[in-house]
Amino acid sequence: MASEMAYTTLGDTGMEISRLCLGCMNFGSGEPWMLNDEAASQELIDRALELGINFLDTANVYSRGESEEIVGRAIAERDRSELVVATKVYFPMRDGPNAGGLSRKHVLDQARASLDRLGTDYVDLYQIHRWDDETPIEETLSALDHLVDEGLVRYVGASTMPAWKFTKALYTADVENVDRFVSMQPEYNAVDRHEEANVLPVCESEGIGVLPWSPLAGGFLTGKYDRDADPESGRAATDEYTAARFTEENWAVLDEIRAIADARDATPAQVSLAWLLHKDVVDAPIVGPRRIDHLEENVAALDVSLDPSEIERIEDPITPRWPAPGKD
Ligand SMILES: NC(=O)c1ccc[n+]([C@@H]2O[C@H](COP(=O)([O-])OP(=O)(O)OC[C@H]3O[C@@H](n4cnc5c(N)ncnc54)[C@H](OP(=O)(O)O)[C@@H]3O)[C@@H](O)[C@H]2O)c1
Repeated sequence: MASEMAYTTLGDTGMEISRLCLGCMNFGSGEPWMLNDEAASQELIDRALELGINFLDTANVYSRGESEEIVGRAIAERDRSELVVATKVYFPMRDGPNAGGLSRKHVLDQARASLDRLGTDYVDLYQIHRWDDETPIEETLSALDHLVDEGLVRYVGASTMPAWKFTKALYTADVENVDRFVSMQPEYNAVDRHEEANVLPVCESEGIGVLPWSPLAGGFLTGKYDRDADPESGRAATDEYTAARFTEENWAVLDEIRAIADARDATPAQVSLAWLLHKDVVDAPIVGPRRIDHLEENVAALDVSLDPSEIERIEDPITPRWPAPGKD
């Protein structure tokens, strides 16, 4: 039986989002581990919507616009009001000056370009992908506020930065009386918990919606890799960032997750996602399935409930620290 989708509101806003967001980074050809198959990408998006997911996350930089174009074609014939579409700006889209960053010029240029690629009149959530040290935050916030005033953007969000910078962005928006960020995308999963020591307490106290990226640690937490063997397939075979998660500390977490999954007749992916969904601060993990069976397995995590002792077992091997080596 298909799991019933659950919904929540994004942070303190009234916008309703599914408790799993569909990550669209895999749709494109930018990296060897991506789908590079438009028909399969469209099927995945269709199935996600059929399962009740109403929330899609992409970025201008994902395969330099290809992901947005694929999402655009997927939503073209749908009732736009039923969908929550999120994209991002910051990383360079070409070589040369003004190719990236968060200047008023680049933000306004890329907002238009994203709307064209997505084939839509507005995005629901427009996110800054990273902090730009070269642009005053006042300039970025005023450009984002303008997009909201123009009706091109419904809400603004942020992603992955030091807590003090995010706090500065929030109080600057209040002082300047412009739209403030309503959401944050941190890297957050059972083995990457550094944000517990960074931005998550800010989100909790400020009513910011938390949308964890890489909720399965790029596939590590599905239990598909073997401690004693080099990965021959899966993302970790070609992606160093994912392979760097093969540490003793992380295998110890996975051992607990595997044991809990066995006892509960669930899969390690489902237990890992359930762990995130049990965190009050988390609104919607952004899952990045590459196949329909991944998606269906991941959605069924909504049916898994963990007790406090299981949560403790998963958390015991790691003490969250920020900054974490090799992380933003
Ligand atoms: N804000 C940011 O800076 C940022 C950064 C990264 C990502 N994101 C967002 O977060 C989304 C998700 O990130 P992610 O793709 O790293 O998430 P993830 O869910 O941790 O990893 C996804 C990968 O894990 C494997 N996988 C997923 N479910 C599986 C299952 N049930 N069984 C076996 N393998 C499975 C697949 O890779 P293989 O089959 O290839 O092994 C899949 O591509 C992205 O699409 C993007 O929207 C945001």
